[in-house]
Amino acid sequence: MDVPLLDLQPQMTRFREEILQAVTGVIDSTRYILGPQVTELEQAIADYCKVDDAVGVSSGTDALLVSLMALEIGPGDLVLTTPYTFFATMGSIFRVGAMPVFADVEKRSLNIDPDRMAELLEEDRRGECRIKAIMPVHLYGQCADMERIIALAAQYEIPIIEDSAQAIGAECPLVDQDGSVQWRRAGSMGLTGCFSFFPSKNLGGIGDGGMVVTRDHDFAELLRSYRNHGAEPKYYHSHIGGNFRLDPIQASVLSVKLPHLEQWHQQRRANSSVYHNLFEQAGLTGDPVILPESVYSNIDGAEVHDFHIYNQFIIRVPRRDALREYLQQRSIGCEVYYPVCLHEQQCLAEYGYGDLSFPVAEQAAGDSLALPIYPELSDEQQAYVVETIAGFFQA
Ligand SMILES: Cc1ncc(COP(=O)(O)O)c(C=O)c1O
Repeated sequence: MDVPLLDLQPQMTRFREEILQAVTGVIDSTRYILGPQVTELEQAIADYCKVDDAVGVSSGTDALLVSLMALEIGPGDLVLTTPYTFFATMGSIFRVGAMPVFADVEKRSLNIDPDRMAELLEEDRRGECRIKAIMPVHLYGQCADMERIIALAAQYEIPIIEDSAQAIGAECPLVDQDGSVQWRRAGSMGLTGCFSFFPSKNLGGIGDGGMVVTRDHDFAELLRSYRNHGAEPKYYHSHIGGNFRLDPIQASVLSVKLPHLEQWHQQRRANSSVYHNLFEQAGLTGDPVILPESVYSNIDGAEVHDFHIYNQFIIRVPRRDALREYLQQRSIGCEVYYPVCLHEQQCLAEYGYGDLSFPVAEQAAGDSLALPIYPELSDEQQAYVVETIAGFFQA
């Protein structure tokens, strides 16, 4: 049996006609830059995230970059972030001339650890006050501890840029002053939230695309100007921006897919439950296989709805590299996200990060493995994945 890590074919087959029609509409309109398809998607994403504004951009990377540019973060500045994420999080910081400060991640979620952030912010405030933004990442589709991160941002008066590239639609509980819990969507809690429409995301285009959402209308206007060379009006440039515009062909495809996003999240959640049951039945849970945890699955002891969107389903295992090879030889797709922490990347060698140590992130880089979790995965395929893993550990 073949079990690819991700199979986009079922989605493409189901929506082929609608997508072709949408794309043809753009082609026939002869409006190829921004235009109504982009505006329509921006409004739909703003509504979906329950924010006022959304600005379509060329990729998730550029969503981060344009946020940093609009905040005028640059040489001499630091941005507090996680060492355990896709490279783009850190790449965007270097691209504006700033440098990252890394806080290790939490064991349960592999998201940035607010205790460590608090220490670093305090240290920075006693020194040169160079940390100018906080960039948490909602890794694998689960929100970072935003309640604590928002409190830190308020205390130190630093804006939050949420790297929500993997987490569109994920939710996070915030407790109001009256004690009631508000579930907020990824991206809607910081100054900006940055999404990627890379094809492997839960909402993926047929190429690159991204979006920045914000509740600050003036900042949205600034972002709109930065994504278009800092021009407002045309040919009058108050800032040095870039060409970070979302392509209308991508926007038209994403508008076809967006109404189905919640259903795909639900199917991924159902697949996660199936894995949990199968691993439990096989006696693998806890040792040797640590399954991903929904860290907000109950509040004050009460069960709450599943907030995780499972862009990735990550297990932690001993002998990870041998297991990966074993699965691949048996036609099961799997991948390591991510094998090298950012502070250990070769391109940082000259900056002195190599001497730093982030033990939780480093351990995750050594033992985490992504299994197939896409919506159309069948029960039989999941059973085959778990049987094969059981076979590996019994051998
Ligand atoms: C956490 C994270 N940040 C940023 C990005 C960058 O998004 P894009 O590939 O659309 O530039 C990604 C995409 O994979 C990501 O996973």
